[in-house]
Amino acid sequence: MVEVVSKAPGKTIWFGEHFVVLGNPAIVSSINLYTRVYIRDISGKHFVITSKNLNITYDGKGDPGKLLPYVRIVEIFRDMGYYRPFYAEINSRIPVSSGMGSSASTAVAFAAGLAKYYGLELGLDKISKIAYEAEKIVHGKPSGIDNTIATYGGFLYYKKGLFRRIRVRWPPDYLLLIADTGIERSTRIAVEKVLDRYRKRTRIMRKIYEAAKELVEEALKALRKKDMSSLGELMNINHGLLVSIGVTIPEIESIVQNSLKYGALGAKITGAGLGGSVMILVENKKKDRIISRIKDYASRIYTVKPTRYGVTTSTQQS
Ligand code: MEV
Repeated sequence: MVEVVSKAPGKTIWFGEHFVVLGNPAIVSSINLYTRVYIRDISGKHFVITSKNLNITYDGKGDPGKLLPYVRIVEIFRDMGYYRPFYAEINSRIPVSSGMGSSASTAVAFAAGLAKYYGLELGLDKISKIAYEAEKIVHGKPSGIDNTIATYGGFLYYKKGLFRRIRVRWPPDYLLLIADTGIERSTRIAVEKVLDRYRKRTRIMRKIYEAAKELVEEALKALRKKDMSSLGELMNINHGLLVSIGVTIPEIESIVQNSLKYGALGAKITGAGLGGSVMILVENKKKDRIISRIKDYASRIYTVKPTRYGVTTSTQQS
């Protein structure tokens, strides 16, 4: 029997979400919350995919519902000439529709796991591209930043489908809180809302996009110098820009404002907004106080650190 386990990280967008959709640069890192996919042989002709998080199973027949993106991945492999029945189990620590890249992390882990199960050495670029096809089903026309970071991990400067690594040694006295509002939002709807405003208010929006571009360049310098107080300040400016393009909601503002009031260095929407999560940069020693002040506004608060790991796979033969 062939057994494969693959694991891909979630992400947090530090700077440039939404702006990246129209070709601006963005800075993103993987975080130490992962999706795991387990794949093994199964008898019969069909494949079975089960998601422990969504509590649904698809047995290869009928409507796959929310598992459609993964069925799409199976089809891509089939079109490339690879198919063998399998049982796949998806388990994620990343909440869905929370801005932490759960769908991309699952698509990447699933694509890499399936490649390994079929005995293929596809390379990371191909895995990311296959996952992007699944992401299109979930998000419409995504920028590609989510599947890229779930594949490669680390800190990336991303622009128009291309990226370069940013070397960051995370200072041990700092961490990130990710406060999930618990309000599930659709990335597709948030992106459409922003693009709509761009069409209606092009001249103003162009200036905001220009500022967002400048912000990413300043943030690169702050990250390289490990200047955490500048990084926090730039996060706050980025949040202001996200407010101005229309993706905040009162629940997000309560978390942002209280985090800053009780000592966070920076707090901003991460991901699409309109719900989802707020990322908060804090010194370790202030963590408990800040958590106690924002916990009433969040459904869950994750303490995370950026990680350098992207997708990994392992096989067992028995
Ligand atoms: C979603 O994680 C990030 C957005 O910028 C959309 C995208 O990049 O496709 C809002």
